[in-house]
Amino acid sequence: MPKTKIHVIHENVAWVEPLRAAFSEIGAPFEEWFISDGVLDLSKAPPNGVFYNRMSASSHTRDHRYAAELTGGFLAWLQSHGRKVVNNGRALQLEISKIAQYTALADFGIRTPRTIAAVGRDHIVAAALRLTGPFITKHNRAGKGLGVRLFQNIEALREHLETPAFEPSVDGITLIQEYIQAPEPFITRAEFVGGKFLYAVRVDTSLGFELCPADVCQVGDAFCPAGAPAAAPQFRILNGFSHPLIERYQRFLAANGIGIAGIEFIADREGELYTYDVNTNTNYNAAAEAEAGIYGMRAIAAYLERERRELEKATRAVPVTA
Ligand SMILES: Nc1ncnc2c1ncn2[C@@H]1O[C@H](COP(=O)(O)OP(=O)(O)O)[C@@H](O)[C@H]1O
Ligand SMILES: [Mg+2]
Repeated sequence: MPKTKIHVIHENVAWVEPLRAAFSEIGAPFEEWFISDGVLDLSKAPPNGVFYNRMSASSHTRDHRYAAELTGGFLAWLQSHGRKVVNNGRALQLEISKIAQYTALADFGIRTPRTIAAVGRDHIVAAALRLTGPFITKHNRAGKGLGVRLFQNIEALREHLETPAFEPSVDGITLIQEYIQAPEPFITRAEFVGGKFLYAVRVDTSLGFELCPADVCQVGDAFCPAGAPAAAPQFRILNGFSHPLIERYQRFLAANGIGIAGIEFIADREGELYTYDVNTNTNYNAAAEAEAGIYGMRAIAAYLERERRELEKATRAVPVTA
């Protein structure tokens, strides 16, 4: 019997299914820690094992309002006991705040779109007045394209703010951001597992802003309305993608406790790349992966199982004292 397991912290069963299958294929012992409401007893010690945090920024939209907050508590507890945590408390901070993401990306010389954060309608308008040209709004704590809207001018924003369609971010912070006009409607998402680059996937944005690659989002699911399937595949893995940005991303990830993530960027007309979203809870598109013959969840399972085996060896090497 193994003494250690892989523990997967999450709040969305549907997103974990492909990972379960990947663990089963290689016989990796794992356990799911579904966190929404619950109990954390600080006087207890956590089990020995490898912990993979998949808490999502959009957990509140699945009726798990405090899942991220409680997960923050769990991660602090695990880390204080010296447990190996993939996507640790710092990673969670970034997951639930684009401000935290953008400032941390800037530390590594990674360009982000000009962004102003605002709380309160008057301040949102004032923030937009500082930008020239079209701009978008988005939630600071987002995922699923929450609050992402394109505005051509201030008047359109003012009107929108007066309608029920305006919804503030769950943390109250709206971001006003320079709109990056891509010459072709696509963005690129670079996937990393175990801190290493796995692949880049090109995502067609002609259908809109809500771009969740998970299978469950491909059926017009209310949680991730990717829209009707496009004629061309919406996701396509790029063969042999390479760019100096990848190395910067890797350093950024390592410095922020992130082992597994998908990072999104967009190119403007001049070919400048702007990074605008770090997903520490990443999902993969099954059709695109089948086409390319490369599988993110298998890579995650293999990586976590390697980590677990190392821990298992170390655990068994410790002499048992009376
Ligand atoms: N500054 C921007 N310029 C142009 N398009 C953007 C910009 N920011 C976001 N988008 C579009 O909106 C989508 C969702 O925005 P994103 O920041 O990734 O939010 P979320 O965290 O909710 O996924 C992006 O995938 C992209 O297509
Ligand atoms: Mg995104």
